Amino acid sequence: KQTIFSGVQPSGKLTLGNYLGAIRNFPLLQEDYNCIYCVVDMHAITVRQDPAALRRQTLEVLAQYIACGLDPEKSVLFIQSHVPAHAELAWVLNCFTMFGEASRMTQFKDKSAKHSDNVNVGLFTYPVLMAADILLYQTNIVPVGVDQSQHIEICRDIANRFNGVFPDTFTIPEGRYPKAGEGAKIMSLSDPEKKMSKSDENENGYILLMDQPDVIMRKFKRAVTDSDARIVMDPQGKPGISNLLQIYALATGKTVAEAEAEFAGKGYGEFKPAVGEVVVELLRPIREKTEDLLRNKDYLQQVYTEGAQKASYLARKTLDKVYRKLGFVKR
Ligand code: TYM
Repeated sequence: KQTIFSGVQPSGKLTLGNYLGAIRNFPLLQEDYNCIYCVVDMHAITVRQDPAALRRQTLEVLAQYIACGLDPEKSVLFIQSHVPAHAELAWVLNCFTMFGEASRMTQFKDKSAKHSDNVNVGLFTYPVLMAADILLYQTNIVPVGVDQSQHIEICRDIANRFNGVFPDTFTIPEGRYPKAGEGAKIMSLSDPEKKMSKSDENENGYILLMDQPDVIMRKFKRAVTDSDARIVMDPQGKPGISNLLQIYALATGKTVAEAEAEFAGKGYGEFKPAVGEVVVELLRPIREKTEDLLRNKDYLQQVYTEGAQKASYLARKTLDKVYRKLGFVKR
């Protein structure tokens, strides 16, 4: 069986973008692959986090993994900081990453512009820690949204560089992205030129998995559209409507063409609440299951403790191999 690895940051609440772009696909893979899904709390501290909120959100992401259909008996679910091998391999990989290539990461440029008061070195080496996450498990496939493609590419470059010096150390992973039209990039509802993101200042831009139905309906009713009234897919000319059509299609399992046909001749006043309603029904069971799980902290603790044990065992094997190849004395 091939190995799948992916991660989600607990740096805020999960959005409909996280779900449609990535997490929705995770359970579909767990029958045919060895799946490992991580809550990457160490990545989250590259920007300042409130400690109590970080602790709560880490458990919430874990609960949401399960609520979205991941089965702890089939997939390894764990918290990144519980497996020290991530930090250890990241250090080694720092020494195999060039300053220039790390400087070219667009996420670093974006985040350092946004958090100009805290351009820390962790933010700079963020992709190296992410490479360590992936390479520790000899991962074949990394299911992520397209916004992560540059990080996957640098991970492959680092792995190839290391393997060039020390052959047969790492499996070279591949990114797996949803196809265009299948949620690869869900856009903000308030500014459809930007991706939907939990770090958006305008909370009308994103739908949270934990949003209540009335909040979801209000945000969709306020979604930015355009002045002509046709409901057709045209990402350049009509980014707002195209994003809503995409969301509607994904939430209902219909094709975009079917969705267009359904709303032909209808107005935005009818279309926007219709999208809201299908999203409410899509998210309702996930929210309810998450709320149940968060009331059962003992169970969550059992899941992440067992997950960390399984992950540590696998990660150690790779780290031992790396240390041996580098010439570190065996302890
Ligand atoms: P994060 O936490 O920002 O997002 C989690 C996943 O959601 C996807 N995503 C989206 N997909 C479509 N449309 C959107 N608007 C949207 N917003 C987010 C992301 O592509 C991602 O798949 N660096 C990663 C976390 C990470 C990781 C890893 C991922 C750390 N180590 C190792 C894979 C493997 C991140 O910040 O994801």
